[in-house]
Amino acid sequence: MNKPKPRSVVSILDLTTDEINGLMNVADDIENNPDKYREKCKHKILSTIFFEPSTRTRLSFEAAMLSLGGSVISTADSQSSSAAKGESISDTVKVISNYADIIAMRHPKEGAPVVGAMKADVPVINAGDGGHFHPTQTLADLLTIRRTKGALSNLVIGLCGDLMFGRTVHSLIEAMLRYPNNKYVMIAPSELRLPEYIREELDKAGVDWEETESLEYAMPKLDVLYMTRVQKERFFNEEDYVRLKDTYILDEEKLKTAKPDLAILHPLPRVNEISVSVDDDPRAKYFYQTLCGKQMRMALIMFLLGIK
Ligand code: NCD
Repeated sequence: MNKPKPRSVVSILDLTTDEINGLMNVADDIENNPDKYREKCKHKILSTIFFEPSTRTRLSFEAAMLSLGGSVISTADSQSSSAAKGESISDTVKVISNYADIIAMRHPKEGAPVVGAMKADVPVINAGDGGHFHPTQTLADLLTIRRTKGALSNLVIGLCGDLMFGRTVHSLIEAMLRYPNNKYVMIAPSELRLPEYIREELDKAGVDWEETESLEYAMPKLDVLYMTRVQKERFFNEEDYVRLKDTYILDEEKLKTAKPDLAILHPLPRVNEISVSVDDDPRAKYFYQTLCGKQMRMALIMFLLGIK
């Protein structure tokens, strides 16, 4: 008999707003009472299967599971896994369902984690699929914003850089649209502006949003500035990448017109978009964001495994 499929998270929209808020509350409790959580996932196994490069997302998932007292089995890259022999995602996740209690999966093909979630007998978490979605980065972003700004509403949010291919941007917009009274400034060169389906969603949601190519223009308005890297791996030719990669470089000079309590976020890895001199500015929150990411992944793993 077929068992009912467990819940997976492929898109941030797989979680309700109440569930997201609940996960943030758990993350805050993890911050305040880490000892309470040290054995929550004892005897549970997380498998990380990453068919695309990653350092922090994979390590963050693994650190999250280890901090909960669980164990981790992983295939670090597609070259060292059976995918290199031509195995389908469907077969891979069916096999891993017999070895692990939960799977975190990254894949260059958009939609691959949907297939994984349909075929696996354990929860699957999308750790990034192509230029599509990256829900756990969004959970990290939301917690960082809530902790640094005190709320997820009544904010002016600037998203800057590669808005076309940046999956973290797409997931973050989907999530922020659920919180009331935010305004958005989309800062990108015309070639890298938001995909049409997301522009339509913004219009449909009836929110206040605008597009500009000028970071200088946007800066004084912003409460949150979300910088992103130009996604080299999604470009069809090197020339375009080279021409666009350094369009925006955030430095102390550009921050002169910014609000004193601006929060600067970046999903990392940074290439050139933020000058290292900004790292010591108290408004820089991007390294703190990685800690928020680990705590949110801990909360999500427990939630999907049904552990209170
Ligand atoms: C992001 C990603 O993989 O989409 N990184 C991450 O998960 N920390 C952003 C990026 O690669 O630019």
